[in-house]
Amino acid sequence: MSAAHGRSEAAHTPPGGAERSEGGAHTSAAHGRSEAAHTPPGGAERSEGGAHTGAAHGRFDDPRATWDARFAAPGLLFGEQPNAFLQREAHRLEPHSRVLSVADGEGRNALYLAERGHDVQAFDLSPVALAKARDWAARRGLQVDWRESSVDDWDWAPETFDAVVAVFVQFADPAMRARMFDGIWRTLRRGGLLLVQGYTPRQLDYRTGGPGRVEHLYTPQLLRDLLAQAQWLLLREHDDVLAEGSAHAGRSALIDAIARKPA
Ligand SMILES: C[S@@+](CC[C@H](N)C(=O)[O-])C[C@H]1O[C@@H](n2cnc3c(N)ncnc32)[C@H](O)[C@@H]1O
Repeated sequence: MSAAHGRSEAAHTPPGGAERSEGGAHTSAAHGRSEAAHTPPGGAERSEGGAHTGAAHGRFDDPRATWDARFAAPGLLFGEQPNAFLQREAHRLEPHSRVLSVADGEGRNALYLAERGHDVQAFDLSPVALAKARDWAARRGLQVDWRESSVDDWDWAPETFDAVVAVFVQFADPAMRARMFDGIWRTLRRGGLLLVQGYTPRQLDYRTGGPGRVEHLYTPQLLRDLLAQAQWLLLREHDDVLAEGSAHAGRSALIDAIARKPA
């Protein structure tokens, strides 16, 4: 599905162009980011789920509006580079895999997979993020089948994908998370791979990104309990320094997980 050949440097430019900030909240602020995205790391408004922490701010009971506001700022909230865990682990995917990227945001991960020759479908709640993703794909000459959907509206068609990617989907509270992982498991074909990266509860000490609510964060045991049938190829907690735009920036407490659905 991808058509990565022969693109120019200019065509590679992501939405927001060269002015886009990659790492510093101070830099981004100079370009007029929205209030939600403005708040420095650690601020309550940094909550990624938006549904709870920001209730006092009037609109955080509307996650779509909240995410749209964050993504409305120029440039890329989560940066231009694909997620580093995905880059490390993408070699595990069979060539030309059919891949679903859950809550893909501005497209950095779906585009990375498309560029590697995979057939990628992705969805996200935010039409603002999707518009950026589509624009960026056009500039790069890549194709991804993006859809606008919430996790709860998504049709998790059974046994459809060779791989599912769920990178920083911790907007989901425990009930939504259970529904989401049920759906992910259903839509994976037998023998398929699930790649997950998220924050662990120690991230509450770092506060360099993520939902800021312990019940949204992952432990190895939580993932084992969610996916009782999984064969775990990787289940690793570690600290690393993230540089994913201004939203995930600094030392972070992470969990990397790769599960195979038994054949
Ligand atoms: C932390 S961002 C991660 C985006 C992307 N996975 C990445 O790594 O760049 C979380 C994403 O989840 C999306 N989102 C939030 N609530 C959602 C929901 N209920 N259903 C689908 N997507 C949702 C947001 O719009 C946002 O793009």
